[in-house]
Amino acid sequence: MLTPRNIILTGFMGTGKSTIGRLLARQLRFDHVDTDQAIEAVHGSIHEIFAELGEQGFRRLEREVVATLSGLTRTVVSTGGGTLLDRANLEALAPGASIFCLVATVDDILMRLSRAASHTTRPLLRSDDPRSRIEELLAERAPVYSLFNQIVTTGMTPSGVAQLIAVKAAMAAQHSGTSSNTEP
Ligand code: S3P
Repeated sequence: MLTPRNIILTGFMGTGKSTIGRLLARQLRFDHVDTDQAIEAVHGSIHEIFAELGEQGFRRLEREVVATLSGLTRTVVSTGGGTLLDRANLEALAPGASIFCLVATVDDILMRLSRAASHTTRPLLRSDDPRSRIEELLAERAPVYSLFNQIVTTGMTPSGVAQLIAVKAAMAAQHSGTSSNTEP
């Protein structure tokens, strides 16, 4: 099956980028990189980074880490929800890649985030009114998120979404003629 050089997953917090990225990589026999985990491996927890350096400091470290990923091949990259809002990050990751934006309803995002340890990994959502905060951030980010292929995850299993992305990525690679890989 044809595949793009890399597959990049973006989308709001709680839409499943990390889980789906891991499954997709396994299915395609690609490597998997999670930018939040890569940042944490070097700089400590996201929670602490935000507490010590604020969002701006986090974005600086995020940009530094993403810059180191620009030469990857056969890799699925699960980005943080804000990563591709930074043009430098998009330019580092986009060449030869298919980019998919995972989409979920606000109810679904709220439900998933209440299950996860969001207070430590999602400082941006710390609020008395998380629903309004999510709606506000989604509206702010819509112009960028809407640039990418939209993949609705609400009502689907993570493996179903991974399979759907694998098919769409193969179709995109075939159409663009820029694919570099066949299965090993
Ligand atoms: C962020 C999303 C988080 C993490 C950080 C900022 C964002 O990653 O990078 O808290 O700006 O949307 P997830 O999308 O994996 O939760």
